[in-house]
Amino acid sequence: MKVIAVATQKGGVGKTSTTVNLGAGLALSGARVLVVDLDPQAQAGTAVGVNLAGEDQLARSLGWVLQARLQGMRMDLSTVWFDRSELLAEWEDAGTLHLLACEESTMTAAQDLIHKKGFQSTPILRRMLVEIADQFDFVVIDTPPAVSSLSATALAAADYVVTVCIPEYPALKGAAATRGTVRYVKDRTNGECDPQYLGAVLNRSNPPSKWKSQEVNIRNGMLDAELHPFMTDIRIDNRISDSFAYGTPAAIRYASHAPGKLYGQLMMQIIERMQQPPEKWETPEHIALEASVE
Ligand SMILES: Nc1ncnc2c1ncn2[C@@H]1O[C@H](COP(=O)(O)OP(=O)(O)OP(=O)(O)O)[C@@H](O)[C@H]1O
Ligand SMILES: [Mg+2]
Repeated sequence: MKVIAVATQKGGVGKTSTTVNLGAGLALSGARVLVVDLDPQAQAGTAVGVNLAGEDQLARSLGWVLQARLQGMRMDLSTVWFDRSELLAEWEDAGTLHLLACEESTMTAAQDLIHKKGFQSTPILRRMLVEIADQFDFVVIDTPPAVSSLSATALAAADYVVTVCIPEYPALKGAAATRGTVRYVKDRTNGECDPQYLGAVLNRSNPPSKWKSQEVNIRNGMLDAELHPFMTDIRIDNRISDSFAYGTPAAIRYASHAPGKLYGQLMMQIIERMQQPPEKWETPEHIALEASVE
């Protein structure tokens, strides 16, 4: 089982979209995938058609399970996760797609509890995932924006961290900050957790032939900040945002169109990087500013 956290401090840049479409792409290619929603906004759940509502469903929130575990109670993740493999029904060779869902009040309470207990409690999710390691090939974790005990918990749970940027300066700063945070996880967890930084996705991009100076500067800034951008950018595409309303990720709804193809390419590059040392990773070239249209 390989655990990938999708994280950046900046809000609204495409963490959730990347998480669910990457998870969907991996599942379409035959893998057994668990998407973990660690953001109290619970949008990853929405993206795969699960919304926890009503008191009877709170007990299926990851926030509830985390609280129980932190207080020394045993709760198995398999009793709360949702099997969403029906989304893959049309694909004969598909794997499986499960979701650990969350909900705001339980997740916020879990966040407070982890914060109170300090850094030594951040490996809590990792320990729970280790117990189910033989049931999944990939776990993809959606994280909240900003720095919090929940984002620290996600990084501690991860074998690999992917960050996300959009062609705007604050997004570059947020991704660089997250890349820096990854370096401290090992020390802060006394060596128990050691995530590897894997690269940055440029999301909401235009075709390179239409790039203005800001887009060129962001791409070059990603290279200069050693964010290791992937070769494939995810273009701005309404089909990606619309898919939230249908509870089916764009990589599934539009599997044979641009969203499916781009997320498929990104997935392959992520898997390739997992198998190679950073010095062998393929990254895009710097772009001359004169190449921009303005
Ligand atoms: N490539 C894209 N093309 C068009 N719309 C996109 C794209 N990527 C994301 N969006 C839209 O942008 C908005 C923010 O995306 P998303 O929710 O994935 O970001 P986020 O980083 O998870 O946000 P938050 O920090 O609030 O969790 C959503 O409405 C989403 O549908
Ligand atoms: Mg999100």
